[in-house]
Amino acid sequence: MPPMAATLTATPAGPEEVRGALAAHGYLADEDLATAVFLMLALERPLFVEGDPGVGKTELALALARARGAELLRLQCYEGIDASQALYEWDYPRQLLALRAMEAAGERPEEAALYRERFLLARPLLQALEDRPVPPVLLVDEVDRADDEFEAFLLEFLAGFTVTIPELGTRRATRPPVVVLTSNRTRDVHDALKRRCVYHWIDHPDLEREVEIVTTRVPEAPVPLARAVAGAVGALRALELYKPPGVAESIDWARALVHLGADRLERPVAERTLGVVCKHREDLERVRDGGLDAVVAAAQAATGTSTQAAAEGAGA
Ligand SMILES: Nc1ncnc2c1ncn2[C@@H]1O[C@H](COP(=O)(O)OP(=O)(O)O)[C@@H](O)[C@H]1O
Ligand SMILES: [Mg+2]
Repeated sequence: MPPMAATLTATPAGPEEVRGALAAHGYLADEDLATAVFLMLALERPLFVEGDPGVGKTELALALARARGAELLRLQCYEGIDASQALYEWDYPRQLLALRAMEAAGERPEEAALYRERFLLARPLLQALEDRPVPPVLLVDEVDRADDEFEAFLLEFLAGFTVTIPELGTRRATRPPVVVLTSNRTRDVHDALKRRCVYHWIDHPDLEREVEIVTTRVPEAPVPLARAVAGAVGALRALELYKPPGVAESIDWARALVHLGADRLERPVAERTLGVVCKHREDLERVRDGGLDAVVAAAQAATGTSTQAAAEGAGA
């Protein structure tokens, strides 16, 4: 295995190098995800990651920026977002002040004097086109929240990395940014947008990976507790809840239990802290009215496997 690279170049040798670099920056990717990231860099395509909330989509982009030593530019999508909020806006109050100042000085300013660089508020997409030593990582987060029109605009942007500002001219990236788009799949994003991208569906991690993530993120949690939480959360996901808990909830649960001084996940403390992982009344009821035994049993089973493994490892 190659040594862990602290910095990920634009042309890593393979998925393993990507995995190592992300791990060195606190993100544990499985082979498939590391391959998708490797390919997006190799093919110079955006990466489209889709998955349930809390599976690590946003964090992937943050870790990728850290691993690349690149600036992160984040565009959070929301209902009603439009091109100007993503590209640039004019700083109207400053324009007005400048206009007043010019008038006070007895000047009669031309319009062009008010549409200069210094009155321009560059938003993430325009910022992504600026020259930097290392191309930035552009995160377009939760695209599914935006509408069709915005999607079409994004598609055009990604096709050329060119933006024309009527008053200032055309800007083009000399080196394209590394783009990560995410979606929680609250609706289907158009094929045209996906077709430009390398696509990856992020699933909930398996038990061992989740234990690894929790111990990395919550180092103050003892390993048996991290195992118990990962096991319990796995069981919660099997209950077909309205909102199955993600990795984010596992991390929070482990932290909460550490704060309460719990070193294992037994029924009373599990029940008391359920609000850290289940945040809908129906889900809470469902767990309390029948799922909790299975959840606690799964926690114990997950802890047990580690004790056994440790014993075997010690040659017992
Ligand atoms: N593979 C992973 N490695 C390390 N941390 C992870 C991983 N997956 C998720 N996390 C953590 O879980 C939490 C939720 O992840 P986030 O990226 O916000 O989820 P999403 O954007 O998919 O809703 C974050 O605190 C993140 O650090
Ligand atoms: Mg997110």
